[in-house]
Amino acid sequence: MSELSVNHLLGIKYLKKEDIDLIFKTADHFKEVINRPIKKVPSLRDITIANLFFENSTRTRLSFELAEKRLSADVINFSAASSSVKKGETLIDTVNNILAMKVDMVVMRHPNPGAGIFLSKHVDASIINAGDGTHEHPTQALLDSYSIREKLGEVKGKKVLIVGDIKHSRVALSNIFALKMQGAEVKVCGPKTLIPKYIESLGVSVETNLVKALEWCDVANMLRVQNERMEISYFPTTREYTQQFGLNKQILDSLNKQIVVMHPGPINRGVEITSDVADSKQAIILDQVQNGVAVRMAVIYLLASKINR
Ligand code: NCD
Repeated sequence: MSELSVNHLLGIKYLKKEDIDLIFKTADHFKEVINRPIKKVPSLRDITIANLFFENSTRTRLSFELAEKRLSADVINFSAASSSVKKGETLIDTVNNILAMKVDMVVMRHPNPGAGIFLSKHVDASIINAGDGTHEHPTQALLDSYSIREKLGEVKGKKVLIVGDIKHSRVALSNIFALKMQGAEVKVCGPKTLIPKYIESLGVSVETNLVKALEWCDVANMLRVQNERMEISYFPTTREYTQQFGLNKQILDSLNKQIVVMHPGPINRGVEITSDVADSKQAIILDQVQNGVAVRMAVIYLLASKINR
């Protein structure tokens, strides 16, 4: 396969295994590029990309912008906090105004699940979902699988544990789709109230005892509790959450194997993971960030090659 089966990256759900393979192969090349003294290629000199962030972001926004600049695309940035959205403009009007300025691709983060899908049906540009509410965060799942592949050779057959707020996490859902598609085994762990009832229908098993779950896995992906998405309390106190589901060095060292520890960031140090674990040799958190740029370059490059101009 030499091109993606999709024209937009709206979710992992819409991809085929071959798309993921092609993205990783392309990312391998870009990873080599970004480690050169001159970290830039002229590939997208004729492409203009708008980064529309209607929700807070540090890593993802910077990573996309860097990926676009490394490909020599023209980039415009928009964040909702300082825009006319606050004056009552609709999403389609905002985006159509931006597209009137001849933009080819839109990278969008939005609090509403499905916002990217909606947009792809109404505007004439290639859309990349950079996180749509509690739904999907496809580039995060791609960079997570890419980092597992880099660390352990392949994703197929690996036992991956996702710990934390599964219910509100788009990282969890996109990771489940991506990992299952590549033949990994997936287990989730967290308070029962934060594990959706449908989760087993996605081919995922559930374990509420953290130590047992860790004994099982090759990789543990520790997620942040998404407090900003909760209207009610899902567990008694943060302290109790940490006692039951927080990963500390004592637990990590008590396991009979060296597992790989991941986190998408931002980390709440001392809540889901202690500093000594986050900064340990077993953690690949900063590798994930570095790989994010190469993987996003690959996605943008492959989608741009499908744009009819
Ligand atoms: C995640 C997100 O925004 O969904 N962060 C990220 O993109 N690196 C995870 C989170 O906010 O906890």
